[in-house]
Amino acid sequence: MSRLVVVSNRVADLEKTTQSGGLAVALGDALRQSGGLWCGWDGNVVEDGADLKTTLKKKGRVTAATVPMTRRDYEEYYVGFSNQVLWPTCHYRLDLVKFENAYFDGYRRVNQRMADSIVELLLPDDIIWVHDYHLISLAAELRARGVKQRIGFFLHIPFPPPGILLAVPVHNWLVKSLFSFDVLGFQTGADVVNFQRFASEHGEGHVLSDGRVMAFGQTVTARAFPIGIDVGAFAAMARTPDAEQVIERLHRRLLARSHIIGVDRLDYTKGLPERMKAFRRLLELFPDKRRAVTLMQIAPPTREDVAAYTEIREELEGLSGSINGAYGNFDWTPVRYIHRNIKRETLAALFRGCQVGLVTPLRDGMNLVAKEYVAAQNEDDPGVLVLSRFAGAAEDLEEALIVNPYDIDDIAHALQQGLTMPLDERRSRHKALLERVRARDAKHWRESFLAALAPQTYGVFA
Ligand code: ADP
Ligand code: F6P
Repeated sequence: MSRLVVVSNRVADLEKTTQSGGLAVALGDALRQSGGLWCGWDGNVVEDGADLKTTLKKKGRVTAATVPMTRRDYEEYYVGFSNQVLWPTCHYRLDLVKFENAYFDGYRRVNQRMADSIVELLLPDDIIWVHDYHLISLAAELRARGVKQRIGFFLHIPFPPPGILLAVPVHNWLVKSLFSFDVLGFQTGADVVNFQRFASEHGEGHVLSDGRVMAFGQTVTARAFPIGIDVGAFAAMARTPDAEQVIERLHRRLLARSHIIGVDRLDYTKGLPERMKAFRRLLELFPDKRRAVTLMQIAPPTREDVAAYTEIREELEGLSGSINGAYGNFDWTPVRYIHRNIKRETLAALFRGCQVGLVTPLRDGMNLVAKEYVAAQNEDDPGVLVLSRFAGAAEDLEEALIVNPYDIDDIAHALQQGLTMPLDERRSRHKALLERVRARDAKHWRESFLAALAPQTYGVFA
């Protein structure tokens, strides 16, 4: 059996259960099941010139091979090119893009260094699975070092339409680099179409009859593999005696009868200010909801060295304070805003205890929180999912209340609909959603991608 080698910028700490970020959560689940090697950054930043030694750490069947990053790499590759060029571009926020040649140089340098350290660890039968926008040029670098093993790539974030990607000066280099992989995985059909369009409109390419894409003189398989969660494990977490206690405390301590929950990294793509404004609008439009409903927003810090993230934090703190000031009372706090990571067990319990799951990103590759909310519900008395049409998850989760995250009134009305929805309708929507979340779970995602990448080893799922 071939060994699976996963490469991603961030490697989750396999001991921790408070990790946030879809990639860390999904890969942690996937690797725990298949075993293998997980290579990437250990999350530490060291002084320039320091020795970048790889540390190997084994937990169960997974070995983590991690390296620190120098201050310069961190500034140029991670904060710079990854999070001030690629992230905003792929989330349609060209107003936040800050391109500098030094960032691009740093990006190439770190991809090259990553290739150097991985080559040392590879076995001839390995199957290599690279993740996300930080490592777009890794396959090209590995190929340049003679690596012949199959290499796949999964993009966790949206692939933007050509008209947007063209704003990045090195757009052709980026897309051409992707053709060094054997298989490209995207979250949704819309992302695949955007990739195909770029290849044909700007790489003199076309889609072959078997679905592969040919451009820049090379061919690659490009398909949608929507990422999922470990449904059974998450549902079980929401049903433990500890979870019951969390739910009981939630209902006993807070005066309100109903709770709305949002859980997101504090990222400008998540639509958090719009969400708070929609909650305020709900209280304005439906006065019976005052003292009756709370919004619990859990938003841990993320990428705090990027200016746009500091601004969003200030905006959100201002908004929650002003809603609480305008509407709150000595015995009712409308908005509960928690700015830190929470144990996954507690999150699962909170999802189960809240009547509405509010997931309204302005743009999102998939959004695992939407799927976790569905998995955590009590099937006899489920809550309602309100979901942005611009989350990848909306391509599949049709039975959610689908909203336009830019339209405050639309969200407010969906909240009212969710809070007053009859039990029968809640049950039938939830049943359909749960079936969809189960059908496309983490195992299905991993197995179908690997079947496409290495049919001889994993072909039963092809
Ligand atoms: P992204 O990858 O952009 O962060 P996703 O919704 O796909 O967005 O994934 C986020 C993951 O991080 C989910 O599994 C979610 O439960 C987890 N998460 C988000 N916020 C927290 C938090 N405060 N504490 C613990 N886990 C969190
Ligand atoms: O899922 C999108 C993603 O960018 C992942 O690649 C990443 O692990 C997560 O969000 C958290 O971001 P970061 O690793 O920059 O803290």
